[in-house]
Amino acid sequence: MNEGSTSIAQASPNIALIKYWGNLNHELRIPANNSLSITLGDLTTTTTVDLDPQLSEDHLTINAQAASDAARQRASDLLAILREMAGSRTFATIESQNNFPMGAGIASSASAFAALAVAGCAAYGLDLDLPSLSRIARRASGSAARSICSGFVELHCSHEEDGAFAETLFPQDHWDLVDIIAIVDKEHKQVTSTQGHLLADTSPLQAARVADASRRVEICKQALQSKDFQQLAQVVELDSNLMHAVMMTSSPVLLYWQPETIVLMEAVQKMRAGGLEVCYTIDAGPNVHCICSASSLTAVRDQLVSLGNIQEILISTPGPGAALV
Ligand code: DP6
Repeated sequence: MNEGSTSIAQASPNIALIKYWGNLNHELRIPANNSLSITLGDLTTTTTVDLDPQLSEDHLTINAQAASDAARQRASDLLAILREMAGSRTFATIESQNNFPMGAGIASSASAFAALAVAGCAAYGLDLDLPSLSRIARRASGSAARSICSGFVELHCSHEEDGAFAETLFPQDHWDLVDIIAIVDKEHKQVTSTQGHLLADTSPLQAARVADASRRVEICKQALQSKDFQQLAQVVELDSNLMHAVMMTSSPVLLYWQPETIVLMEAVQKMRAGGLEVCYTIDAGPNVHCICSASSLTAVRDQLVSLGNIQEILISTPGPGAALV
């Protein structure tokens, strides 16, 4: 074993075009269906893992503040997998910094756990390939499995643990799409994705959503391959609506949308009918990701701003996967 004392890694969040919602195996976080995403450049989490033989447990700070017990435990569970693989008993200090506003409704768990997996592996002297890193990140957060990879990414579901990892389908410069993230609410969500995945099977619509997922994945892959924006827009909005239909018909009901969310969904559809290349997709929160072509960016952003109900806009293009700094 060759433990490096301090390792630093950087990773970005991602936006799913075809969503992951519900698990085949909750303990191992094996998703119920394949998902497709774009890794978001410019937005980053930078994580330092510093092994310290003096420690009796792992420590975690996020943006220089001590993390909650739950967050610390989740990070520690990931490092425990690495310690087991490396045959190590040394705990670590973990420092995680986001360059995007916390609580801006951008899932930070994907970038956080992708960066932690990469920095942690290096710190414990593990030299792993991308599929192995992706599987490890997945154990902490399903979407983190995708943030290991650059560009346009697919996360495979599988009945075997080994088969559930993400890989790049197309490199980041394949298609110059832009994600305009319209933030309508910066509050932390009431029900986390982890809690939501547990409820997915209580919806009578989840089985139908999962049964049709491979068809949507294929349509989305074709649209990406041929850079067909209209085909992409239809399948991305359908997939987002299907996931929210499952959420709204779960028990208890999960309703993440706010009035402003629906205003933005309608505005995006009107813009597309008016000839702009833009579509919406919404994660487990009220904020709206407006996926558009580079040529439509300025017009879409101006029209979104003119609606007057957006607190902040973040703009991101396809970016790199997680890597050591
Ligand atoms: C709605 O990966 O955040 O963003 O595995 O519990 O960390 P955990 O959940 P998470 O779930 C992602 C849900 C989603 C859709 C998606 O990104 O595919």
